Amino acid sequence: MAGITGVAESNEAMAESWDGDTGAFWAEHADHFERSGAAYDDELLAAADIRPDSRVLDVGCGTGVTTRKAAQRAAQGQALGVDLSAQMLAVARARAESAGLSNVEFMQTDAQVHQFDGSFDRLISRTGVMFFGERDKAFANLASALVPDARVALLVWRSFGENDWMRQIVGALLPQAPLTGPPPDAPSPFALADRGTTTTLLEGAGFRDVQFQGLEHPLVFGRDADEAYAFLLGLSGWMIADLDEDARRAAEERLRAMLAAHETAHGVQLDSAAWLITARR
Ligand SMILES: C[S@@+](CC[C@H](N)C(=O)[O-])C[C@H]1O[C@@H](n2cnc3c(N)ncnc32)[C@H](O)[C@@H]1O
Repeated sequence: MAGITGVAESNEAMAESWDGDTGAFWAEHADHFERSGAAYDDELLAAADIRPDSRVLDVGCGTGVTTRKAAQRAAQGQALGVDLSAQMLAVARARAESAGLSNVEFMQTDAQVHQFDGSFDRLISRTGVMFFGERDKAFANLASALVPDARVALLVWRSFGENDWMRQIVGALLPQAPLTGPPPDAPSPFALADRGTTTTLLEGAGFRDVQFQGLEHPLVFGRDADEAYAFLLGLSGWMIADLDEDARRAAEERLRAMLAAHETAHGVQLDSAAWLITARR
């Protein structure tokens, strides 16, 4: 595994992936990833109600798009982005520097166990808090990073079944696979999709006034089907890596056809559904 230390045992596999090949792919395609989810950014940041002097913690910040946007709003305050991936954080630092931001920092650490100084009054995340191996410990740790009454705004995916982008990709690549998604208690993009379980989790970790707002926006996977195909094959090709050559080619053709069918004047778009979770410490 690459350089990260101090990772909880329950997050070692995640760290190996995000601080390894997955993170490298995200770093290389940073523009793509930052743009594809951008439709959610204004609502996430508005819900966080960031003030000029806010101290913002952005968990699972990746290449730092929301950290930069938070830092711009907290011009006399501070924004700290934390993530497991050295590669993504290198991009985050370079982009913050090119944007001329002096009030933003990034740290490679496991947010589940890192001992924060308890001074943050805003906690935000754009799809970065669903991958903890021990989510109860992770959210208790995040609560301890915050001052009393701090404001929380988290964007997380709703269930696999409600996220057409994921169903379409898996359905095209592996049409025989059951379209059920990962087990709900496993770390995955859909780990916080269940409102009841997530409310209990957050309240148990010390948060209050937990509220959910359903948001839906299309995700953009490329300017056209060719670009989206190259991107998605890089991202999801592992799903068909074990197939024989004929089956793999057929899967690739289905993926290409599905993407061509979703080409619009604004690029290749697939629908997504998220929760915007707000809470107070
Ligand atoms: C789906 S990506 C989202 C990245 C970014 N927020 C964005 O929207 O582009 C999830 C991120 O969470 C990070 N992550 C996962 N588990 C983490 C942990 N235990 N501590 C810190 N970051 C973590 C990953 O490294 C990855 O960058």
